[in-house]
Amino acid sequence: MPKGMVIGVALNQRQSDGVDAAAVDIVAKQFNQISPENLLKFQPVHPSEDRYVFEAQDRFVQFGVDRKMQVIGHTLVWHSQTSAWVFQGKDGAAVDRDTLLARMRDHIHTVVGRYKGRIHGWDVVNEAIDEDGSLRKSPWFNAIGEDYVAKAFEFAREADPGAELYYNDFNLEKPAKRAGVIRLVKDLQARGVRIHGIGNQGHWRLETPGISEIEEALVDLRSTGLKVMYTEVDINLLPQAGRGADPAVANPYASGLPDDKQQALARRYAEIFGVFVKHRDAVSRVTFWGLSDADSWLNRGRMNYPLLWDRQRQPKPAFHAVVEVLKRAR
Ligand code: XIL
Repeated sequence: MPKGMVIGVALNQRQSDGVDAAAVDIVAKQFNQISPENLLKFQPVHPSEDRYVFEAQDRFVQFGVDRKMQVIGHTLVWHSQTSAWVFQGKDGAAVDRDTLLARMRDHIHTVVGRYKGRIHGWDVVNEAIDEDGSLRKSPWFNAIGEDYVAKAFEFAREADPGAELYYNDFNLEKPAKRAGVIRLVKDLQARGVRIHGIGNQGHWRLETPGISEIEEALVDLRSTGLKVMYTEVDINLLPQAGRGADPAVANPYASGLPDDKQQALARRYAEIFGVFVKHRDAVSRVTFWGLSDADSWLNRGRMNYPLLWDRQRQPKPAFHAVVEVLKRAR
């Protein structure tokens, strides 16, 4: 592994609970960082105003601490997987700015504060920029206004001054969206808000985005002076299928992945990691969004093959390809 580059994986609850022992073995051997696939999102951790849930969350954090892994928190402020009560005001009205800011502050102080000194870095705000580069009209934006992002970072800094704080988003290979993220980050920096890194989710496909687009995005993002992280890497091999699509078209690899696709996936991963190691002075971390193909959120009733281990938990050619690139970079 290139010095300084952390390689991690998102864990589901069966893994962080230790129930999926085969997965735990691989994670402990192959990775030095973990992210929670769902556990630390707003909804699971704070389902109602006066109730926080921490049991499985504590086990997740302890999983990493016990194994001396870097533990990442995902995510504090997002429009998705956030309980409906958060955005409700009195008598069915929409929540007002001050109430929502107070809720945001309470949430961030409670969750970040609990894991102070144990969670290395937080995705403070997730997916705040729209495809056109403007701020997404999320319930956070609608109630608080454009300074909600800065507020979230300020509350996180108060709660754990030692934690790294990140902005995280997807489709950053699209120039308009990337420009919006860079504007946002520069605006935070100009206001004196502490931010340490930009997370590029890295939910990609076999052919798109092109490798030069991935590299251009990286060069652009690093020009902010911030660390760049690939926080949710996977390669979707399935076509974008609408409802009612012919199953043979929508689910082409239902009975297995043909060897040419297997090899193409390995080459794609090798190429991508080639870019990461070329810019290793800027890329501080790469995290896979799940351990094996069986664990991936990209299946959704179909058979997808986006990760480095197969459904039998055997390493795929893509795994060996990534290892080769990382070894050569040492
Ligand atoms: C996904 C999880 O993998 C799924 O289990 C869940 O049902 C939905 O969320 N961007 C993010 C992640 O920041 O939190 C999402 O994770 C994938 C897209």
